[in-house]
Amino acid sequence: MFYLKYRPRTITQIDNTRVRDILKKILDSGVIPHALLFVGSKGTGKTSSARILAKAINCMENKFAKKGTDFEPCNKCKNCLSIDVSSYTDVLEMDAASNRGIEEVKNLIREVAFMPMSGRYRVFIIDEAHMITTDGFNALLKTLEEPPKSAVFILATTNLEKVPATIVSRCVKVNFGRGKNLDLINMLKRIDQSEGLGLNEEMLSVIASQSDYSFRDAAKLLEEVAQQKISKVEDLETFLGLRGRSDLMEMISAKDQKKTFVWISEFAEQGGNFKILIESLLSTLRQELLIKKGVIDQSEAKTTLKTSEVTRLIKLLVEAYQLMRSTPIESLPLEIAIGEFYNELSV
Ligand SMILES: Nc1ncnc2c1ncn2[C@@H]1O[C@H](COP(=O)(O)OP(=O)(O)OP(=O)(O)O)[C@@H](O)[C@H]1O
Ligand SMILES: [Mg+2]
Ligand SMILES: [Zn+2]
Repeated sequence: MFYLKYRPRTITQIDNTRVRDILKKILDSGVIPHALLFVGSKGTGKTSSARILAKAINCMENKFAKKGTDFEPCNKCKNCLSIDVSSYTDVLEMDAASNRGIEEVKNLIREVAFMPMSGRYRVFIIDEAHMITTDGFNALLKTLEEPPKSAVFILATTNLEKVPATIVSRCVKVNFGRGKNLDLINMLKRIDQSEGLGLNEEMLSVIASQSDYSFRDAAKLLEEVAQQKISKVEDLETFLGLRGRSDLMEMISAKDQKKTFVWISEFAEQGGNFKILIESLLSTLRQELLIKKGVIDQSEAKTTLKTSEVTRLIKLLVEAYQLMRSTPIESLPLEIAIGEFYNELSV
């Protein structure tokens, strides 16, 4: 799996540039905060970065071991390797979202009283930290008020609002945000080169744009594309269900009811992705709206629809998009939306 194979193992390998710089500064200073809070959307490197940090401060071959000036983990020593396979006694990792989570937080906090066995720091990584219960947070708060010198807490969450302010204020917050397009492309380039896939920049950029701002999703999508042996941007767009959206837009503009429905059913037969199709139609229509409002240059117009038709279609497609979650037939929400659009035209 690409996303596991290419998981960053050093600070330098983190493709999220802003996070990389913040973590570099922390490690470079040599003063490690007792509590860090990693906030950001899924697949942006929170867990990976927590592990890199745990390795760096417990590595036997870097500046924390008084060997040289490099703060990166060596990824070769006994400590680094056992952290990699989660068998290192001084790095305790737990998932607060799992069923056992609630009890585990308490056990974990009990562990804080113990000194490190073989490393310099005991690192407590708590994933999905927003799922910790009130009791758990209270216990954690006490610990964070007077943490033992050797303890480092790393809380990771996708949901900052659900973490009590009292906890947040005791942590150094690192904002992972969402994966930026440029950063996602850089990661994809790295994997592409290493795997010898030979995809061009345009293709990598299309993949990045369909990855929901997640490095994990981008790596997974690249793997699918590699498995399909897709090598042309046209084939990639077909695979992603992006191709033909401008044809569809033209048919809708021309108000050719029959052609539109035939196109949609063929798209369904070819296994096209309706979620992505609706997303791209919405993005085209929004563009149209901005053109009509004079925000964007007129020459980019793609349809001959009236402003009222554009806004109506946007509304119908947003509804269709919401229906995508519950529909038993993939094409149905779009067919309903288009059907309704044409019905309104005829009255
Ligand atoms: N900043 C990054 N640079 C390079 N690869 C990344 C980065 N962030 C994530 N990845 C890729 O995504 C995968 C998942 O990352 P990770 O588990 O660290 O994300 P996360 O933020 O903890 O996600 P979640 O919120 O879903 O737990 C990694 O194995 C790696 O392949
Ligand atoms: Mg994670
Ligand atoms: Zn090491």
